[in-house]
Amino acid sequence: MPDAPDQADRDAARLRLDVNAVVEAGAGTGKTTLLTDRILFLVLGWDRPQPVCVERVVALTFTEKAAGEIKLRLSERLVELAAGLSGAELPAAAQERAERTLSELRGRFGKEDAELLARARAAQADLDKAPIGTIHSFCAQLLRLYPVEAGVDPGFRVDDGEAFEEMFVSEWARWLDVELGEAPPRRAEWLALLAAAELDDAEALARELCSEKPELEGLTEPDADAARGLRALADAVRGVPAGRPKPRGGILDALAASAARLEAAADAAHALEPDPDAAPLPVAKDAKWPAAWEEDASA
Ligand SMILES: Nc1ncnc2c1ncn2[C@@H]1O[C@H](COP(=O)(O)OP(=O)(O)OP(=O)(O)O)[C@@H](O)[C@H]1O
Ligand SMILES: [Mg+2]
Repeated sequence: MPDAPDQADRDAARLRLDVNAVVEAGAGTGKTTLLTDRILFLVLGWDRPQPVCVERVVALTFTEKAAGEIKLRLSERLVELAAGLSGAELPAAAQERAERTLSELRGRFGKEDAELLARARAAQADLDKAPIGTIHSFCAQLLRLYPVEAGVDPGFRVDDGEAFEEMFVSEWARWLDVELGEAPPRRAEWLALLAAAELDDAEALARELCSEKPELEGLTEPDADAARGLRALADAVRGVPAGRPKPRGGILDALAASAARLEAAADAAHALEPDPDAAPLPVAKDAKWPAAWEEDASA
């Protein structure tokens, strides 16, 4: 195989095991090949201060597929190298690849064939135990090793994407049974909340807070734009009766209550921190919207 134009950089990333390497490269340019080489040199050639067994090599990927590919390629390469070292027949391409790697292991790492063969066989035998996998499986493995320190149930399951929704729905229902049941532990708080928001809103907020990435940013920041908009809306609502005949029924009261709600919402949007002692938003009475804006004959 002819050398790539950037072979010197590739070699630095493959062979310089004493320094960290960061490789950014496009699709199909040889990243997995390079990483596989680096792991091979580490488990077969490195011994400062002692040899590294494959069980101590952590290689993390985003997907099971990519992790499987690294393991598969490592396994193929180890088999090839062992075959090359014991004089077995190999297809031409594999032979060339094995010879190149072996000459690097002998030349750059000063290894003898007997040691290389023993290390290649050991690595092949232990490859299954190597922590080469996804980031989430590695984290789960760590958490299972130290459940007490991590404060998790050692029998936890990793969510493959659907468990969260299932669990949220059942836990939310169970929680509401208690919260809104016969002896509600937080009756006053619920009444205040439900005067200002729907139960669905509370559920949406709870779901967001439990999700992997709750959108908390800006939650405690004053939102001057929203406050200005709400105040303009309150002014517009207050201005509705201007120039019109005095209406019948509770329409003026309803408008005043709506304007007060908008003003209170503007205050809340403008506050740096929501004031826990602030009066709850005024609630419009159970008023029915008057059928029409008709002149009040008594006025
Ligand atoms: N230095 C090289 N010279 C020529 N061919 C190479 C070289 N390195 C890798 N290849 C070949 O290029 C192909 C892609 O390599 P590899 O899978 O390592 O790339 P990748 O960057 O990991 O790809 P992907 O983005 O799909 O994960 C393979 O067939 C591999 O054998
Ligand atoms: Mg790859």
